[in-house]
Amino acid sequence: MENVLQAAKDLAASRHAVALTGAGISVESGIPPFRGKGGLWEKIDPMEYAHIEALRRNPEAVWRVLIQDMKTTLDTARPNDGHTGLAQLEKMGILKTIITQNVDGLHQLAGSRHTIEFHGSFAWMRCMNCSNRIETRYLDISVIPPRCACGGIWRPECVFFGEEIPPRCLIDSKHAAMSCDVMLVVGTSAEVQPAAYMPVIAKNRGATIIEINPEKTALTRSVSDYIIRGKAGEVMNGILSALNQIRSSAPVDG
Ligand code: OAD
Repeated sequence: MENVLQAAKDLAASRHAVALTGAGISVESGIPPFRGKGGLWEKIDPMEYAHIEALRRNPEAVWRVLIQDMKTTLDTARPNDGHTGLAQLEKMGILKTIITQNVDGLHQLAGSRHTIEFHGSFAWMRCMNCSNRIETRYLDISVIPPRCACGGIWRPECVFFGEEIPPRCLIDSKHAAMSCDVMLVVGTSAEVQPAAYMPVIAKNRGATIIEINPEKTALTRSVSDYIIRGKAGEVMNGILSALNQIRSSAPVDG
């Protein structure tokens, strides 16, 4: 795959790499993306079912159309080579932080320790009335919408459209973007702000921006230094094997 060797060289020379990931990295784990062919937003209108006003107005409909299926898919999803490859890069001391737009928790399951969940997490539910919390996989959804003991309805701790990015996540992500010398942008269409602005921040500070995506995106021409056209898992495997070769052939310092 073109540019795989270049990415391995850039990562080998990097002192502080950061990744921004999106739904595409979890496609090989069986989780559909939002946009493009087979995407969730092709089937349902996000303004009708993924906006905070929709959740407040008609939680039952949002549960039936969106949240119920997400729980079924995410309860059993497992990390793929894309996730484990990034976890491996962190273990090697190259990758310092993952900023993820995903709510599926698969980076953490793969062993990544420094992950910023930019759009929150599906792993926990919060009662919309009393703010009590429960782990999503233990939530009984035999009755929709599921309710807390207080009578309030449970909602996932994800960021819905119209809601704020958790301020701490935004600050930490901007900091990560400003500090990196290489940013891997994996499996995101880069169409949703402010997440899509993180590569722009990194680029303005002189970082090399490497996209991994089968398709070109909003960043490809103007922001990315280059793109590796391919699936996240396959590309990460290629990068890691090239990187291991570079490292094993590098002269050892005196
Ligand atoms: P999108 O669904 O917008 O984009 C997914 C990207 O992954 C596309 O560019 C695909 O070409 C690419 N892709 C598909 N298969 C891939 C594979 N196997 N490997 C690598 N890339 C692949 O998802 P996001 O950019 O994550 O927000 O979407 C951003 C936000 O929009 C989401 O976090 C969500 C959504 O609305 C909220 O819900 C707030």
